[in-house]
Amino acid sequence: MSVKRSSIHGQWSSRWAFILAATGSAVGLGNIWRFPYLTGENGGGAFVLVYLLCVVLVGIPIMMAEILLGRRGRQSPINTIRTIAAEEGLSRHWHLLGWMGVIAGFIILSYYSVIAGWTLAYIFRTGTGLFVDADAVYSKQIFTELISDPEKLLAWHTIFILMTIVIVSRGVKSGLEQAVKFLMPALFILLLVMVGYAMSTEKFMEGITYLFVPDFERLAEKNFFADIFLPALGQAFFSLSIGMGAIMIYGSYLSQKSSITFNCFTIAIADTTVAILAGIAIFPIVFTYGLEPAGGPGLIFVSLPIAFGQMPFGTFFGTLFFILLMFAAWTSAISLLEPAVTWLVENRNMTRVKATALAGLIAWSLGLVTVLSFNHWAFSFTFAGVMKENGLFDIFDILTSNILLPLGGLLLAIFTSWLMSKSSTVEELGLGDSRAYHAWRFAVRYIAPFGVIMIFLNAIGFFKLLGFN
Ligand code: TRP
Repeated sequence: MSVKRSSIHGQWSSRWAFILAATGSAVGLGNIWRFPYLTGENGGGAFVLVYLLCVVLVGIPIMMAEILLGRRGRQSPINTIRTIAAEEGLSRHWHLLGWMGVIAGFIILSYYSVIAGWTLAYIFRTGTGLFVDADAVYSKQIFTELISDPEKLLAWHTIFILMTIVIVSRGVKSGLEQAVKFLMPALFILLLVMVGYAMSTEKFMEGITYLFVPDFERLAEKNFFADIFLPALGQAFFSLSIGMGAIMIYGSYLSQKSSITFNCFTIAIADTTVAILAGIAIFPIVFTYGLEPAGGPGLIFVSLPIAFGQMPFGTFFGTLFFILLMFAAWTSAISLLEPAVTWLVENRNMTRVKATALAGLIAWSLGLVTVLSFNHWAFSFTFAGVMKENGLFDIFDILTSNILLPLGGLLLAIFTSWLMSKSSTVEELGLGDSRAYHAWRFAVRYIAPFGVIMIFLNAIGFFKLLGFN
């Protein structure tokens, strides 16, 4: 059965518009802020290696599944899943999976916006030359001053949510393309400049070794599933924007003719390259200036400004860097809001502007929790062998990246590969009954569910019960 639906929310002007928008969604704080700090917390090379495997074996196949569903349903993720479930004769309860994604999106956006607010603040801090000749102590002090002031955090968070609302209310298609087309390549080039600087530092090789060579001694002390695999898988989901419907809704605006496979690989390669470049730029600086790799969420905000303070034209490069990082965060944030907005437009008969304002307000309110997590409400706890110091922010982050996104991905994988008819997915992927199709199907049927289920079983202590460490 061939389906020919069109989305009431519009369509991308070309295949490249989709690739740019989806890359804009994928590349963001996840690559430049979250990837380095998690790598530092989890001990380097082994984490990076497992992360790369997760992207290839679990991430890309699930991203393909999400786009496939989105393009077939051509509605908000909730209604897309409802429609396809009905067509395939499956339970109507599957649409709850769409709801789980919407909730995950709100939680992620609520804290994402606070961190994006830090990048806004840093545009001004670097722009005024604050970091010229700064040392590690001074740089840390500037960062601590920012996060311990809830009023400042609130102001930047509010500005960033408003920026997100402006774009989403106009429809993610207009305006976005231009931003991604020029700013992403610019960010990429600036990262290369940073890598160039990192190469000139004393501890460049130490940074590279830390990033790419697994430390097996350290690994032996850790629980592989809980301490390495879980955060690495969570990071793969987070960085690729999968597991909650963001890529699904972008896929719903994709032309029927475009190749899902080619698009996914392009997006994933761009996303992974940016993360790795960020790692190469940051760790040599961290070691050269005696910072702690496990410094937590402040890692790039403390380390990079020191480098900007030392390098020629550092004030210029530093300001430009935080501007571009802000744009990267912006093009990601809009994809977190889009699934909820499209549902409000479809089911509550709202205009896009009203729907966006309402959804934005929900994310903004929830963001107050994160604003306070770095100061008045701060508390610490240990998770996966790592000391987390920012209470509810860390809990939000763990709940979404390590639980809701992988669970969403698992259910999406089961839905597309075990429950939908094979003919529907063959038709939608457009690969025919080829090797490539079978490789994809094998990955979503077996590899992705196996990986996620192992992690969840471990989390509930199943392996301990069986007597493993
Ligand atoms: N991938 C983005 C980043 O790396 C964040 C993001 C956007 C996201 N949309 C998402 C994460 C959907 C999870 C799900 O910064």
